[in-house]
Amino acid sequence: MRTKTQAQNTFPIVVLLSGNGSNLQAIINATQPAPCHVAINAVISDRATAFGLQRAKDAGLVTHVLAAGTHANRQTYDHALAKLIDCYQPKLVVLAGFMRILSAEFVAHFHPYLINIHPSLLPKYKGLNTHQRVLDAGDSVHGCSVHFVDEELDSGSIIAQAQCTVNANDSVDSLKKKVQQLEHQLYPLVIQRFAARELP
Ligand code: GAR
Repeated sequence: MRTKTQAQNTFPIVVLLSGNGSNLQAIINATQPAPCHVAINAVISDRATAFGLQRAKDAGLVTHVLAAGTHANRQTYDHALAKLIDCYQPKLVVLAGFMRILSAEFVAHFHPYLINIHPSLLPKYKGLNTHQRVLDAGDSVHGCSVHFVDEELDSGSIIAQAQCTVNANDSVDSLKKKVQQLEHQLYPLVIQRFAARELP
């Protein structure tokens, strides 16, 4: 494990992920050049194979794996996760494709400094398969939302959204690509607004 000394005026965050970590990469790319104050103190995954962990290591960040199978139930997992996050004293906890439902205790512990990004224009299409559901509904616009996390799935108040057009020839893959491009712009901007004390 590597540690970093933080300058006094940095805005420490911890990022949680389960998979590819393209949002983590966008946050790294946007926050590493000086004079940005955002410091990613740790990246934590519930999956040892998450490619996001490799991205974090490549950027010289501290990483942890907290595998779900090592805990008896959601409460004990979330308690261990909260304890681990607290070690890094983040001012913001950033869910970036962290695909676990969080307990009410966990959410209350970090509220309102716990945010998530979701691939739909919430409140539409909470949960999974958002791109397919947009196509099935024949929607002409789609997008992503950054929101505060509350006890219900994908339901906390919305901080920011970005939209794209859905064309007749769009597929799940093309929509995923369009929406992820939006996510990679939007999430770093929102984090920088927290760091600038413009939010919450
Ligand atoms: C992102 O598209 C994010 O919106 C989604 O998981 C993907 C993670 O991609 N999150 C959710 O669906 C949460 N409900 P990434 O690992 O490449 O950043």
